[in-house]
Amino acid sequence: MNEISALRERYLVLIKSAQTDNALEAVRVRALGKKGEIALKMRELGGMTAEQRQVQGPILNALKEDVNNLIKSRKHQIEEQELNERISLEWVDLSRSPRVSNEGSLHPVSQVTEEVIAIFSSMGFQVADGPQIESDYYNFDALNIPPEHPARQEFDTFYVCGDENDHSPLNVLRTHTSPVQIRYMEQVKGPCRIIAPGRVFRSDYDQTHTPMFHQVEGLAIDRDVSMANLKWVLEEFCKAFFEVETVQLRFRSSHFPFTEPSAEVDIRCSWNDNQLKIGEGDDWMEILGSGMVHPKVLDAVGVNAEEYQGFAFGVGIDRIAMLKYGIPDLRSFFESDVRWLKHFGFEGNDYPALHSGLSKF
Ligand code: PHE
Repeated sequence: MNEISALRERYLVLIKSAQTDNALEAVRVRALGKKGEIALKMRELGGMTAEQRQVQGPILNALKEDVNNLIKSRKHQIEEQELNERISLEWVDLSRSPRVSNEGSLHPVSQVTEEVIAIFSSMGFQVADGPQIESDYYNFDALNIPPEHPARQEFDTFYVCGDENDHSPLNVLRTHTSPVQIRYMEQVKGPCRIIAPGRVFRSDYDQTHTPMFHQVEGLAIDRDVSMANLKWVLEEFCKAFFEVETVQLRFRSSHFPFTEPSAEVDIRCSWNDNQLKIGEGDDWMEILGSGMVHPKVLDAVGVNAEEYQGFAFGVGIDRIAMLKYGIPDLRSFFESDVRWLKHFGFEGNDYPALHSGLSKF
């Protein structure tokens, strides 16, 4: 056997025995790389006579092509082999039950906010928003609560530190969402129907109070909006929210500087075995504050109080969430305990809508 066919035989064996891509590449370099055996042989052609070259040239070229083709087809084999191995190892048992995934859930405050928005949008109210750090003017003055007014104390306000040389009144963390009605009316200066849900802050902490909580403010302004409209809107809201056929509301005369007359609203309910039932029974539970917007508030925002009037109300979102979903302690809302959220949370991609059943118990 001559030298060339011995070389061919040797590489044939090496190529066949290469089991991986890397091993095969090493064989290729050893044969055909710059300093590979076959490459060196080809270089020898340069030192041959023309006759020798004519004989040896085609032989070496054929060898080179053979080895190249063998490597290619071996490469193909290896790839197929690896794929088959993976297919036999990585199989999926479709009959197994799926692994439980750790899905998040919607916090009751988010759920109830969405429910409230769904109900009021169906009555033509738009959602309005405003800053949580408010000026003293929007949180108090424009709402007919001048600096010396005792109501300022009742709000347990958090003040935001001002600059050392700035003697203007301190900003506050808004104590209610009512400043949003001021900002909104300043813009439209006329008829409007809005709700303003959001965070509010007061320095207070016990089973029914936390320093941060949530309110939704409602406001409707028009030429002949009356308390009767307020009563109807609140009744419709309560029926839809508590998902009951009938509700009875009791308007108790009260005082808020920004409404005249003002009323606190109670809902008829019953307590049996610690279970609250809304709509029937012999008890009453306070759920919100309301009234007809004070003419001084309309004046402050440039709405003509001779021409327009309206009602406003403020509901505690966390409070009605506690009532509807039987959550006993307000503080637990904001402790970020995942076990609590798992228990009281809601499915994330089920947005509340009136047509599909608000809360889908
Ligand atoms: N802003 C009032 C509060 O936080 C609630 C309220 C709003 C009362 C609108 C009347 C009208 O106590």
